[in-house]
Amino acid sequence: MKKIIVLPLLIASIASLSFAAEKYDTKAFRTVQKLCTSCHGTPFYMAKQIDEDDWDFYFETPGKLEKIHKEKPEALANLKNSLFQKRKKRLLKFFIDNSKFSGAVNGCDANFCGTVH
Ligand code: HEC
Repeated sequence: MKKIIVLPLLIASIASLSFAAEKYDTKAFRTVQKLCTSCHGTPFYMAKQIDEDDWDFYFETPGKLEKIHKEKPEALANLKNSLFQKRKKRLLKFFIDNSKFSGAVNGCDANFCGTVH
């Protein structure tokens, strides 16, 4: 099942990175895609896993994200990445805007097509 889904998604995301519709923060979307998607699934899928209070908690509690990922060197490196450091607030806003009970429904667009990871 997973393989059937991942390939078209991959093609869709590679084929269309340059035609962004600015209904959500596409820069945040792409940053998440680069730094978190390898483990957490697509940015919208990831955002939906928890609610807005939890996003706040994980991002605003000092050292929390690092602690959760302490056994994942790749994740730790990505958290230290200057892209993450620079855009942390934007990512938090993106996650909250698209979180579990946000009601955000993201249709098929140039960055993203479908709701599965
Ligand atoms: C190398 C894989 C990996 C990468 C890359 C990664 N994570 Fe995680 N993340 C995990 C794992 C595994 C857990 C679950 C840890 C646990 O439950 O103890 C997790 C848990 C979390 C949680 C706690 C809530 C939840 O969904 O379980 C948050 C928030 C989180 N990650 C944010 C991020 C962000 C933001 C990024 C990108 C900057 C990121 N992660 C990149 C592996 C990763």
